[in-house]
Amino acid sequence: MNPANDESCALVIFGASGDLTRRKLLPALWSMFQSRVLPEPFAVIGVARTPMDDAQFRARTREAIADFARVQPPTERVWDRFAQALFYYAGDPADPAIYPGLDECIRRVERERGTGGNRLFYVSTPPSLYPHLVSRLGEAGFNRAPEGTGGWVRIVIEKPFGRDLASSRALNHVVSGAFSEEQVYRIDHYLGKETVQNILVLRWANGIFEPLWNRSHVDHVQITVGETIGVEARGAYYEEAGTLRDMIQNHLLQLLCLIAMEPPVTFDSDPVRDEKTKVLRAIRPIAPDDVDRLAVRGQYGPGFVGGRRVIGYREEKGVSPESKTDTYAALELLVDNWRWAGVPFYLRTGKRLPKRTSEIAVQFRRTPHLVFRRNPEAPAEPNLLVLRIQPDEGMSLSFGAKLPGPEMRIKPVEMDFDYGRAFGGEPPEAYERLLLDAMKGDATLYARGDWVDLAWALLEPVLERWAAADVKFPNYESGTWGPAEADTLIERTGRRWRRP
Ligand code: BG6
Repeated sequence: MNPANDESCALVIFGASGDLTRRKLLPALWSMFQSRVLPEPFAVIGVARTPMDDAQFRARTREAIADFARVQPPTERVWDRFAQALFYYAGDPADPAIYPGLDECIRRVERERGTGGNRLFYVSTPPSLYPHLVSRLGEAGFNRAPEGTGGWVRIVIEKPFGRDLASSRALNHVVSGAFSEEQVYRIDHYLGKETVQNILVLRWANGIFEPLWNRSHVDHVQITVGETIGVEARGAYYEEAGTLRDMIQNHLLQLLCLIAMEPPVTFDSDPVRDEKTKVLRAIRPIAPDDVDRLAVRGQYGPGFVGGRRVIGYREEKGVSPESKTDTYAALELLVDNWRWAGVPFYLRTGKRLPKRTSEIAVQFRRTPHLVFRRNPEAPAEPNLLVLRIQPDEGMSLSFGAKLPGPEMRIKPVEMDFDYGRAFGGEPPEAYERLLLDAMKGDATLYARGDWVDLAWALLEPVLERWAAADVKFPNYESGTWGPAEADTLIERTGRRWRRP
C-alpha cells in the first residue's frame, strides 16, 4: 500500500445518483486520473438513496464517462485501476441512522485504499436537503478526521446556496455550526473555467490593461451568458429557481466581481475573496422603486433554435402552464467606488437564446476629440475588449484602422487571441480544477459565506418585486435575444447590446 500524500483523500459524494455526479463530477475525476493530476491513492464513495452496489455504481460511472468525459479510457486495464477506487453506500443522507454504517464503510475503504484520514465531502443532493445533511454530518462527528490520522476534513457545497437572503443566512448558520469556514468550499463552477481565471491573469500579469481599467477610460461593461438550451429535464427545479437565482446571483455576479475588483495583495484565498466582497459592498443597492427600471425578466415561448422547432417554457415537463418563472434576466448595476463611479455594468442571461455564448465586453470611451470629423464616414468606433469565456474561448481587441485608399476612412479591425490555436487541445473542465483545489485546500476559486449573503442581499428587492408584480409571459420567442424591454433597459442610456 502506498503512503497517502497530503492531498490523497476519500471523496464522499452525497447525491451520487444525481445528474451533476453523472455529467460533471465522475467525468471530471476520470479526466483528472487520466491526466495524472488526481492525487493517489484516492477513493470515491457515492452515497444516495437509490439501491445499488459497488459493481452497479462502477458500471454507471463507466457510462457517464462514455457520455460526458473529455477523454475516454484507453484500455480496460486503465479503466479497472480507476474503477477499483469507486464504492457506493445506499442510504438517505437526511436520516441520522445511516451515519454509523457510513462511517464504517468509509473507514474500510480508507484502509483498503490507503488514503489516510483525509475526507472531502461533496454535497450535491437536492438543495432542500443541504441543512439536514450538514447538521447530520456535524452531529455524527464527520466534521473531524478519524482520531490519530492527523487528516483533514472539507466540505464542498453545490449551488444554489439558499434561495434568498434569509435561507442563505440560515444555511450559513447551519454550516458554521458544524464546520469552520476554512473547511467549507461553496462551489461556483464558473470560477473553475480557464477563461474566467484568465480574467485575473489578463488584468494583473500584464501592465497595459490596468491603467485603462477605470471610469476615465471605460464607458460600460456588458456581461452576457446566452444558452440555446431550455430547462431540459430540470423543469421542477427551475420553477423553484428562475434565472435570477440560477445564474445571476452566482455566475454573473462572480464575473462582475472579477472584472471590477481591485488587485489583491497575493493570489491567495482571503486576499482575493476580500476584494470580491468589497465589490459587492460597493454595488449601489437597487431601491424597490427602481426595480422596474434596472431589471428586466423574460420567459421563452415556442420558437426555433438552430433551425429546430422548440416548445415554450410553459410546455416543458414539470412546469406550470401559468408559470411566472423567469428564464431570462437583465440588470443594470453601478459600482459606487473611486474606480467605477458612473460606469454601468449590464448583465444579461437567458435560456433559448439564438447562440450559446458567455462573454464580457469592456467598451472603452470614445476619443475625446474627433480629429477626422471632416469626413462623414470617419467617426471611429470606440475600442472594445471582448473576453470570450465559452465557446470559442479567447479574447479580441477592436480598434480603428485606416482603410487603404486616398480617403480618410476608418474601419474597426480586431486583434484576436484564440485559446485553442495558442495552446492546443481542450481546456480542462471547470470541475477538474475545482475538485483538485478542494483536495489541496485552496479555496481561492470558491465563494465565501459573506459573498454569497451579499449577492442575495443585492438581488432581494428584485426577487421581492418580481414575486409581487404581475407579468405577461411568455415575452420572448425561443431563438431571439430576449424581451424587447431588455433593449429599452440599455438603450435608455444611449447604449446597445452587442450581438455576440
Ligand atoms: C448552472 C445552471 O449553474 O450553469 C444551469 O444551473 C446552466 O441552468 C449552467 O445551464 C450553465 O453552465 P455552463 O458551464 O454550461 O455555462
